[in-house]
Amino acid sequence: MTKIRAKISGIQGWVPPYILTNKELETMVETTDEWIMTRTGIRERHILKGEGLGTSDMAVEAVKGLLAKTGTTADEVELLICATVTPDMVFPATANIICDKVGIKNAVGYDLNAACSGFLFALVTASKFVETGTFKKVIVVGADKMSSITDYTSRETCVLFGDASGAVLLEPTTEEVGVMDSLLQSDGAGRVHLHMKAGGSVKPSSHDTVDAKEHFVYQEGQPVFKFAVTKMADVAAEIMERNNLTSEDISYLVPHQANMRIIEATARRMGVGKEQVMINIERYGNTTSGTIPLCLWEWENKLKKGDNIILAAFGGGFTWGSVWLKWAY
Ligand code: UT7
Repeated sequence: MTKIRAKISGIQGWVPPYILTNKELETMVETTDEWIMTRTGIRERHILKGEGLGTSDMAVEAVKGLLAKTGTTADEVELLICATVTPDMVFPATANIICDKVGIKNAVGYDLNAACSGFLFALVTASKFVETGTFKKVIVVGADKMSSITDYTSRETCVLFGDASGAVLLEPTTEEVGVMDSLLQSDGAGRVHLHMKAGGSVKPSSHDTVDAKEHFVYQEGQPVFKFAVTKMADVAAEIMERNNLTSEDISYLVPHQANMRIIEATARRMGVGKEQVMINIERYGNTTSGTIPLCLWEWENKLKKGDNIILAAFGGGFTWGSVWLKWAY
């Protein structure tokens, strides 16, 4: 029987217009452009401004653009998975809100939370529905309004994050392209280093939790850094090894954009040169579920059918993983 694979047949990204520069951050917290650039590689990030606007509004921009450029009607979409840690509300799922705002009426929608690995986990989950023939037109959207959970008085975290969305259309193919292999891992013990303290069922929102600033990202930078460097490189190297891929076979590495030093370490471990790595952290910062689709979107015109691409991510949970993708157009 011919194997059905899930191919990416279109990609669209979106960032809000407001740009928060390192220079502006220098006026908000005790930091410098020099510190942020050397420690993270980030120069600026986009922030969603506007009363009543949330993650779904950014996702809607990406999804509408995706439908238009792939010539897909809203009615044709059968499944939409939204990867996010900043849902519009605790419930319902942001995916449902996106579908409603776009006019997607015939689709199943749900959210998936794997923090910075969210897009990768959602892509793999969605690809299984396509490979098994369950759905033929599937949208995976990664979107995060990180500014909504960032403490702009904390220099440790506020320099890192930005807002963005990115969406891909997945369709079945019998060609040797699309999602070729994937490797996903998680370890809940890592939660102590990276989490949000309040707003969940363990510690519901209260005046005290607001006063204690417990509705923002809590991150212990160094332990997270150590795990990220090791784990992201491990999975990227493993997926290459088990598929007999060498650095010469790889057109691009697409790493989650959390820190330039983590990106460089992963590339070194894989033996790929900087020109083979998609890097746009300087302009967008860490957009959590948005980083990988934003890269693919920006590099779309350079990609050719059959290009071998390795996606790699690491994030809260901890979660981490890698995908071997053959570009389909
Ligand atoms: O995407 C999900 C996963 N997340 C990640 O992968 C993030 C991983 N972690 C990191 O990328 C890095 O740990 C950070 C960028 C968060 C921090 O960089 P670092 O090199 O690990 O710095 P550090 O936390 O060890 O701090 C070094 C110094 C400290 O001062 P002292 O104690 O040496 O006096 C900090 O207080 O830098 C200070 N510092 C800052 N200084 C100026 C921390 N943030 C800033 C800042 N500006 N924004």
